[in-house]
Amino acid sequence: MPHKPVNFVEMSPACGAIVQDLDLSNGLTNQQFDEIYNAVVDRIVLVFRNQTLTRAQHKQFSRQFGELHIHPSKRNGLNKDDPETFIIDIKPSAIQSNGEPWHSDVSCDSMPPAASILYITEIPENDGGDTQFMNMHAAFDSLSPDLQTLLADKTAFHDGEHDLKHYGIKLRPGQEYPAHSHPMVTAHPSTGRPTLFVNPGFTTHIENMPKWESKMLLDGLFAYTASNPRLQCRIKWAPGTLTMWDNRSVQHQAIFDYAGWSRYGERMTVASNQAPLPYKA
Ligand code: SIN
Repeated sequence: MPHKPVNFVEMSPACGAIVQDLDLSNGLTNQQFDEIYNAVVDRIVLVFRNQTLTRAQHKQFSRQFGELHIHPSKRNGLNKDDPETFIIDIKPSAIQSNGEPWHSDVSCDSMPPAASILYITEIPENDGGDTQFMNMHAAFDSLSPDLQTLLADKTAFHDGEHDLKHYGIKLRPGQEYPAHSHPMVTAHPSTGRPTLFVNPGFTTHIENMPKWESKMLLDGLFAYTASNPRLQCRIKWAPGTLTMWDNRSVQHQAIFDYAGWSRYGERMTVASNQAPLPYKA
């Protein structure tokens, strides 16, 4: 059959594209893969509507992009059933959702995952539960040259335990969770484009800097980026929507505006085989 080029409709100027009329249940042909790969690097967030996928098909599609990442909470023999599947199962009694603070998935890992692929099958009855995404290349580009130079010379500490605290979870004695330093400004491995790689979910401090200066800079960067819709796009889910994003370029936030209702989805996360690369101007 002749190849029909994949059609994309851009969402916001900052990021996001809707992929039109593509059924993912049989995976992608080589040509489709190339087009989707280039599009996710370019638009950072891709939305595929009206999918009907089994978990195996979701995994098969995700594996085309690389090996699947195992979330730290499922390592060490925990959740032996299916450690590759990260389940988002928010019940009506929940007081928060997973991923509410802005974050890049598992940035506390030594090699944080390259991409995440979330398939939502149940949305809250009040039509809430959107996810916001923020282009962190554009965030870096929008800073003054002086601040860019300062940040590009720094590393910051990303601590999984810090993220757990947002959910009131404390590690038990002997329990371990990843924590790693990464450059504050990283280079995308495919394009070399700089990214501001710090997030309120995981980043605790900038290294080799007085504590108050680190706090001032991080608080300022977090407030500036989170309050800047020009950097963002927002996904409204429907049952059967699958969204894929590039964690090397984007942060996201799951909006919890649906207390009393439920939301269900499953995420496959594509592993990376390299630590974040420092950006050199
Ligand atoms: C996440 O991957 O952090 C959750 C995103 C969502 O539930 O929309």
